[in-house]
Amino acid sequence: MKRYYLKTMGCQMNEHDSEVIAGILASLGYEPTDELHEADFILYNTCSVRENPERKVYGHIAAFRRLKEAKPELVIGICGCMPQQRDELENILEKLPHVDLIFGTHNIHRLPELLERAQSGERVVEVWDEAEVSPGEDHRDGLPVIRKHNVKAFVNVIYGCTNFCSYCIVPYTRGREHSRLPEMVVQEVQELARAGFKEVTLLGQNVNAYGKDLGAGITFSTLLRELHSIDGLERIRFTTSHPRDMGEDLIRAMAELPKVCEHLHLPVQAGSNRILRRMNRGYTREYYLQLVEKVRSAVPDISLTTDLIVGFPGETDEDFADTLGLVEAVRFDSAFTFIYSPRKGTPAAKMADQVPEEVKKERIYRLIDLQNQISAEHMQKLQGQELEVLVEDISSSGLVGRTRSNRQVHFAGESSLIGQLAKVRIVEASTFSLKGELVK
Ligand code: SAH
Ligand code: SF4
Ligand code: F3S
Repeated sequence: MKRYYLKTMGCQMNEHDSEVIAGILASLGYEPTDELHEADFILYNTCSVRENPERKVYGHIAAFRRLKEAKPELVIGICGCMPQQRDELENILEKLPHVDLIFGTHNIHRLPELLERAQSGERVVEVWDEAEVSPGEDHRDGLPVIRKHNVKAFVNVIYGCTNFCSYCIVPYTRGREHSRLPEMVVQEVQELARAGFKEVTLLGQNVNAYGKDLGAGITFSTLLRELHSIDGLERIRFTTSHPRDMGEDLIRAMAELPKVCEHLHLPVQAGSNRILRRMNRGYTREYYLQLVEKVRSAVPDISLTTDLIVGFPGETDEDFADTLGLVEAVRFDSAFTFIYSPRKGTPAAKMADQVPEEVKKERIYRLIDLQNQISAEHMQKLQGQELEVLVEDISSSGLVGRTRSNRQVHFAGESSLIGQLAKVRIVEASTFSLKGELVK
């Protein structure tokens, strides 16, 4: 019996890619392990969106040299977004000579052959710039998948990104936008529903660009409507939406389709028009605020979450104040906040007016403080409410599930409730978690 250790960094696309990798490895007779020293294959599925996680990869893998010395047949691999960049790939090859296997985001399906070659002593490097398939086609169709959860599942709908926000590496690591055929998505979700899954999260760096490359009037909202009619499926989520592509048809579909959950992750990134323009986001602060109003009037009580970057090149105190002001105006339910991290090869990294590290830090603390306060107020309002919770799992502290607004709730109950929708009254609300009790 061979064992693998798989470390996943980055976004949900990577998490789902790792589910496919786990499926392939299981079909090759591998079992997962959490113990590095037990592994015959160590694989890091990497993220390049910021510098820190990249640095960690170098640190961790450098330390595996000793494991390799003790067990020469050990295969050490790196996949995901890091090898998709030429410079980074060169750097990996030079700095980590004990890495045996490198592949990218477009050729995961090639793993069986690549791993076999690596096992026989070859240093295998295979990275594709693009998926090299016709519109709608997908190398991953039909590959085995081992999913992390039994109740909810990730489903890819569109790969890649061609927005080229000036700070972002993703268009370089994931290639151009490429939608899966609607019938393939529908088939996958039907199979999931038949297997007892109750919830799907549709994945794309920009899900609402879905269909543009397919033509024939296929859009993300038409896909949602098709998926909605699948029996047994209870909830539909999706991430991430780009504000610029958030059309009326999608807002209407969200309002009309009961299975589509009342949650929208709508990254705004910054509150200053000058910075938004330099970021190449394609919308203004006023457009965003108006969009939020439209969404809220179509879907009352919707939970709105966002991503924010502080310290983008040229960000002044006034620009940052605009971000704080926007956060106060919108009152997001929660936000992911990031310090701008220059990424080699992106236009923003070459901008002259980089913001000093201390300024970035001071700004992010202020932003986090403000958002935490707002998040806590949103959570407090849930106290005493009865909410629909999809029960996902059981742990030492009882059942765990999520509300339609994607908030995690802990409450006492029987494991037979896993996979069911339960009514739960919220009895305790803190900034990041909810405790409840079963109503029925
Ligand atoms: N496709 C999604 C998000 C992709 S990456 C979208 O456009 O919304 C997730 C988040 O990481 C981004 O929303 C952004 O806030 C952040 N991010 C991307 N590049 C970054 C960089 N160079 N430095 C800091 N944060 C970054
Ligand atoms: Fe990056 Fe912008 Fe594409 Fe999101 S939309 S992945 S931030 S380039
Ligand atoms: Fe990171 Fe690649 Fe996702 S860079 S955020 S893992 S697409």
